[in-house]
Amino acid sequence: MVLRVLVIGSGGREHALVWKLAQSPLVKKVFCAPGNGGIAELAECVPIGVTDVNRLLAFAKDQEIDLTVVGPEAALLAGITDAFEAEGLAVFGPNQQAAEIEGSKSFAKDLMARYGIPTGKYRTFTTAAEAKQYVREQGAPIVVKADGLAAGKGVTVARTVEEAELAIERVMNEKVFGEAGNRVVIEEFLSGQEMSLMAFVDRETVRSMVISQDHKPVFDGDQGPNTGGMGAYSPVPQIPSVVVDRAVAEILEPVARAMVREGRPFRGVLYAGLMVTESGPKVIEFNARFGDPETQAVLPRLDSDLAEIMLATVRGKLGDIEIRWKKEAAVCVVMASEGYPGDYRKGVPIRSLPQSRPNCIVFHAGTIKEGDQLVTAGGRVLAVTALGADVGAAQAAAYEAVNQINFDGAHFRRDIAAKALAAEKK
Ligand code: AMP
Ligand code: GLY
Repeated sequence: MVLRVLVIGSGGREHALVWKLAQSPLVKKVFCAPGNGGIAELAECVPIGVTDVNRLLAFAKDQEIDLTVVGPEAALLAGITDAFEAEGLAVFGPNQQAAEIEGSKSFAKDLMARYGIPTGKYRTFTTAAEAKQYVREQGAPIVVKADGLAAGKGVTVARTVEEAELAIERVMNEKVFGEAGNRVVIEEFLSGQEMSLMAFVDRETVRSMVISQDHKPVFDGDQGPNTGGMGAYSPVPQIPSVVVDRAVAEILEPVARAMVREGRPFRGVLYAGLMVTESGPKVIEFNARFGDPETQAVLPRLDSDLAEIMLATVRGKLGDIEIRWKKEAAVCVVMASEGYPGDYRKGVPIRSLPQSRPNCIVFHAGTIKEGDQLVTAGGRVLAVTALGADVGAAQAAAYEAVNQINFDGAHFRRDIAAKALAAEKK
């Protein structure tokens, strides 16, 4: 036990990272900035914001942190990795230039075009008039995406040309996502099953994780507006392993090589959001970090030591590491605040929280301790994860735990992992 680790972030993903890192025999102490009410049970929380790079750096130096792990994209795009590396500190997460693969959809799209990586046909526009003209030419369904960061909410899958034009108007003229809407990407509609494929990447070395599937729309049956993600499960048994192998060979590995060639070598977690179409897996988006809530379903299945993998990545030695996974399945159900993904109330007391057990972990996504009382502090409040022999067993265990939890206005999807079970029946 030697390492002092600092995790940056405050969501369910960071709780899962802290939970897994704290189990490592290499780790002596974990700090989390700023953390949340659940993380506080495992780590010392420090009240510094995720983009307050100067204060985070001062804290890491002062506390002699051996490894900093960056959760959210905002910190990566604020250049936290560059700042820490300049001071000789070990940090897990890509630098600002490499994180552009998430920070700019047009950069990611152009990169894929240059290197022949399968993705939907697209065009990028800087004026609403031209974007609308293109949409009228192409017809619907069609997808409208704000170019910059929009917390997973900048995408409209438009069923009609009118809906697409309205989305363009909102993004580019009303600027509902601010500067992220200065440019818009209009993309071909892809149909099929979605999968999230994350990998540890150290320049050209790619070690993929087990796949998972997110649930973006707020309501059952994929109805309603998109959220940050209402639940996830892993494995995704209806997606054959040959498809995953193909995605690694045709997408992740070439992208890792492309980033090196472009002078933006990637070190950290690269996340590919993929659509499994009839002509194979195609990229919907890249993220430069762990997914949320995918991480809460994937890390409980990791058998290996996460701290060891991260240190190897940071030191350019990922190629020396083999990563082992558990056979069990994991299902994560997100419990959200009333009103989310729109406006929601904070400070709602959370009653009757079951104790986490080895096979059932209540990750906190948006909570805070007020004295002795745990209260809500975000749109996504809890990410309840259970392990089981298969997806069905994990699903049953996750919902059993969810049903024991209670806070006013709590809502959650009742069909997380239902696609896997439906495919099994067929
Ligand atoms: P993103 O934020 O880019 O992951 O997009 C959010 C969601 O919109 C995705 O998870 C998909 O369900 C959907 N989506 C994005 N792009 C496309 C596309 N080209 N075709 C169909 N659905 C898409
Ligand atoms: N769950 C999707 C994301 O983390 O962006």
